[in-house]
Amino acid sequence: MKLTGKVHYVGVNDRTKHRFEGLWILPQGVSYNSYLIHDEKATALVDTVDMAFFPEYLEKIKAVLGERALDYVIINHMEPDHSGSLALIRQQFPNVKLVGNKKTLEMVQGFYGLDTENTLCVADGDSLDLGHHKLRFHLTPMLHWPETMMTYCETSHILFSGDAFGCFGALNGHVVDTEMDTTPYWSEMERYYAAILGKFGAPVQTGLRKLKDLDIRMICSTHGPVWVNEVNRAVDTYRRFSSGTTTPGLVICYGSMYGNTRRMAEAVAEGAAEAGVRNIVVHDLSVSQPSYVLADIFRYGSLAIGSPTYNGGLFPVVEDLLKRLCGRSVSKHRLGIFGGFTWSGQAVKNMLAYNEKMKMELVGEGLEWKQGVTAETLEQARALGRLFGE
Ligand code: FEO
Repeated sequence: MKLTGKVHYVGVNDRTKHRFEGLWILPQGVSYNSYLIHDEKATALVDTVDMAFFPEYLEKIKAVLGERALDYVIINHMEPDHSGSLALIRQQFPNVKLVGNKKTLEMVQGFYGLDTENTLCVADGDSLDLGHHKLRFHLTPMLHWPETMMTYCETSHILFSGDAFGCFGALNGHVVDTEMDTTPYWSEMERYYAAILGKFGAPVQTGLRKLKDLDIRMICSTHGPVWVNEVNRAVDTYRRFSSGTTTPGLVICYGSMYGNTRRMAEAVAEGAAEAGVRNIVVHDLSVSQPSYVLADIFRYGSLAIGSPTYNGGLFPVVEDLLKRLCGRSVSKHRLGIFGGFTWSGQAVKNMLAYNEKMKMELVGEGLEWKQGVTAETLEQARALGRLFGE
């Protein structure tokens, strides 16, 4: 599909992968976007696709190239959902030149055993002239890996942004946002950010600062729609999540074996509702998928976590969430804790220890109860909920 005069979309949709990175469910699939610039002086592919899709990917490339050779592959990012086809591309086009920075080219060798003959090593600010299109490379480390860079076309004002500004959700016929209803993609962008990039808030902010003087009229990321009308909204979504800016609201996450912690979670929700909190989301962590939980936590500024004591520690699904949060930039949140026990109180103590790393602002004291909940403990949970509204 042609995006502008010489820039073509040659990406593919994956509707069968169960979990992205082996971790994150994909109910609406995912696209691996790749772009082919068919220019006067040279042709260049920007990123590739997951190798499982190589036959149809090659067909798309050949349909654009016709009899011409492929001169360059620009590698913005080496994660195999984008670099997976590199070795096969080299087999098909033996003279193609791989373009990347020093770290990229080391990874090309490390992942695919490709030699560094016929490569072009670029540094921050270097450019490549394809004839009509003049490309400039901007190194944006840790967005998402250390080698990550973006490629800006100074002629057409297109930013080939890699994972940044991307989202889950396969493309359903349309590619460019001007032609489609983009509604389903925004929540998928937030879920993608929280799951994949949530650890890298500071580097994302650095990357955004670096791009601020570019006149960006089209964003071609590696996942999801091409942004033309919604460039600002896509950038703003990443800016919001990476800066820790949240909407008022409370996410209540709990694990429960026999319903006591669940009843305390419901009471926290009731208390927050009484106190006027409008956005309240409750997740039973044995049921909710982690990426949806994380996206809600990135959206809303308050969090309450409840856990039973289990085998002398935390209930496993609660501990799993806390570990994920320790590896993400969420320290501006307010946190309430509630935990039960039968003979040895460990849940609250352990959650407080996790907060030493998460560094959220504690709301109330850790609320602890022994064995079954009572009218009194439920009222204490409602009081904790009310604190979030007050
Ligand atoms: Fe879509 Fe970091 O790979």
